[in-house]
Amino acid sequence: MHATSELTSSKRVVLAARGIDKAYKRGPWPARRMLPVLADVNFSLRQGEVVGLVGENGSGKSTLMKILVGALAPDAGEVERAARLGYCPQTPQLYERLTCDEHFELFGHAYGIDSRREREARHSIYVALGFERYARVRVSQLSGGTVAKLNLGLALLADPDVLLLDEPYAGFDWDTYLRFWDLVAERRISGRSVLIISHFVADEERFDRILDLRDGRTVPR
Ligand SMILES: Nc1ncnc2c1ncn2[C@@H]1O[C@H](COP(=O)(O)OP(=O)(O)OP(=O)(O)O)[C@@H](O)[C@H]1O
Ligand SMILES: [Mg+2]
Repeated sequence: MHATSELTSSKRVVLAARGIDKAYKRGPWPARRMLPVLADVNFSLRQGEVVGLVGENGSGKSTLMKILVGALAPDAGEVERAARLGYCPQTPQLYERLTCDEHFELFGHAYGIDSRREREARHSIYVALGFERYARVRVSQLSGGTVAKLNLGLALLADPDVLLLDEPYAGFDWDTYLRFWDLVAERRISGRSVLIISHFVADEERFDRILDLRDGRTVPR
C-alpha cells in the first residue's frame, strides 16, 4: 500500500459521511422486520486518495456507496459532497436498445457537457478501455465484460473529481484489468479520488487505504 504521507493527510476532504445508519424492511406485512445494515458509519475521502472498500457479501458495501452518491437516503447521518462525483453501480443501469455511442451522447446531455467535449472524452475512454469496435453495437448484443467497460466509461465521461466504483473490474480480462489500474493511477496523480468496492484486493499496493465493512461499520484493514 502507498505510505500515507503528511501531504496526503493535509489534502482537502472531497467526500465525507458521518453517523450513517441504514436498515431495510424485510418480509411481508404484518411480519415485516427491520434488517440493520449500516450502524454509525463514518467515512472520509481526501483529494488524490485511492481507497478500497471490502467486506463479505451482504455486508452493506453497495448500500453505503448508494448513500454516498445520493441514490439512497440514510435513516440517520449526513453526507457532505465537496466535489463532482461519478458513479459506476454494481448492476449497470443501461438501455438494451441503445448502442455504446448513444449511451455516451445521452449521458453527455445529462451531465450538461458540450458535444465536442463529449466526443473527445468518449474517444479517449474507448481507447483507454479498448472497446471502440463496439461503439455502434446495442447493449443487448454486448458481452458482459464490454457492458462493464461501458458502465465504467459512463462514470468517467464528465471527468469527475471523485469516482465511486462498485466492483468495476469483476468482468474484465487481464489486459483490461491492468488498463483499469493505469487509469486509476493517472487520476490519483492528477489529484482526483477513487473509492473502489472489490472482493479482489490481491493488489493491495495499488490502494492508499483499505476499509473493511464489518457488523455495519468500516474498520481499517
Ligand atoms: N432494497 C433492498 N431491500 C431490502 N434489503 C436489501 C435491499 N438492498 C440490499 N438489501 C440487503 O442489505 C444487505 C446489504 O446489501 P448490499 O447490497 O449493500 O451488500 P454488499 O456488501 O454490496 O454485497 P455484495 O458483495 O453481494 O455486493 C443484504 O443483506 C441485502 O440483502
Ligand atoms: Mg454490492
